[in-house]
Amino acid sequence: MQLIEANGAKIPAIGLGTWELRGRTCARLVEQALKLGYRHIDTAQVYENEREVGEGLRASGVRRNDVFVTTKVWTTHFAPNDLERSSKESLAKLRLSEVDLLLLHWPNPHVPLQETLGALAHVKKLGMARHIGVSNFTVALIEEAVAACPEPLACDQVEYHPYLDQTKVREACARHGMAVVAYSPVAKGRIKGDQTLVQIGQAHGKTAAQVCLRWLVQQNVSAIPRTSKIERLSENIDIFDFELSDDEMHRISQMGSAKGRLTNFGFAPKWD
Ligand SMILES: NC(=O)c1ccc[n+]([C@@H]2O[C@H](COP(=O)([O-])OP(=O)(O)OC[C@H]3O[C@@H](n4cnc5c(N)ncnc54)[C@H](OP(=O)(O)O)[C@@H]3O)[C@@H](O)[C@H]2O)c1
Repeated sequence: MQLIEANGAKIPAIGLGTWELRGRTCARLVEQALKLGYRHIDTAQVYENEREVGEGLRASGVRRNDVFVTTKVWTTHFAPNDLERSSKESLAKLRLSEVDLLLLHWPNPHVPLQETLGALAHVKKLGMARHIGVSNFTVALIEEAVAACPEPLACDQVEYHPYLDQTKVREACARHGMAVVAYSPVAKGRIKGDQTLVQIGQAHGKTAAQVCLRWLVQQNVSAIPRTSKIERLSENIDIFDFELSDDEMHRISQMGSAKGRLTNFGFAPKWD
């Protein structure tokens, strides 16, 4: 598995997203994914499935140190004491002594960023997280975070797929040695019948989803597709035996614009 190196972290290029996966389905998919070769699982406190992610991890028989586990702290827990307590709760649910990556799930302008980052760095120092990072941060917020955080930030996890241009965020992350981790990497399934991706895939014997994920990892981006279907687990990881040409990469990149964003909330920052 290709690894994305970022400020000391080695993040497997493909991970399993688990948003909306619940209960036994979640545990079973995590177990199957790890048995199929996945080595990176993405969860969050707010997904309410950390317990099941931990169960799937143990059921898979894959050694703990061989799996990269990410979880995220929700924005209502950004006051320093809350952040530490909330991180302990996540570890208790996962039944892990530490996660590989702990992220601030969204920016929260109501709590000073410096305080929250101080607490996040402290949690890392306590050994509860091997690496720390952010999610849904814009270029301005990345700059502010890097300046304020006493520890290096490993990544910004943001929405990224062929319909959304993320050049500015990618460049900001590269400047600071941070990885981009792409959420909604198959545009929530919308790429399935895309003519450009299907056509490029035909030349390589691959599906549109595989072309889309290959386009991301070929930019040194880690992608965390979610599926509730066992057969798609294999499809989404079977992308390391072909390469897109410069021309194919360019054609896919040209599909992106600022209008392609799928996830937006009232509390979202002003996007780049
Ligand atoms: N940091 C954040 O704020 C944030 C926000 C959103 C998501 N995330 C993370 O990123 C992960 C992925 O994002 P996402 O769940 O929004 O979207 P996604 O992974 O782009 O899309 C998931 C959807 O695509 C379908 N799909 C998956 N593989 C496919 C394939 N090979 N062909 C066709 N359809 C396919 C799935 O359907 P089936 O289940 O039917 O296969 C599902 O409906 C989440 O699970 C979560 O871990 C983070």
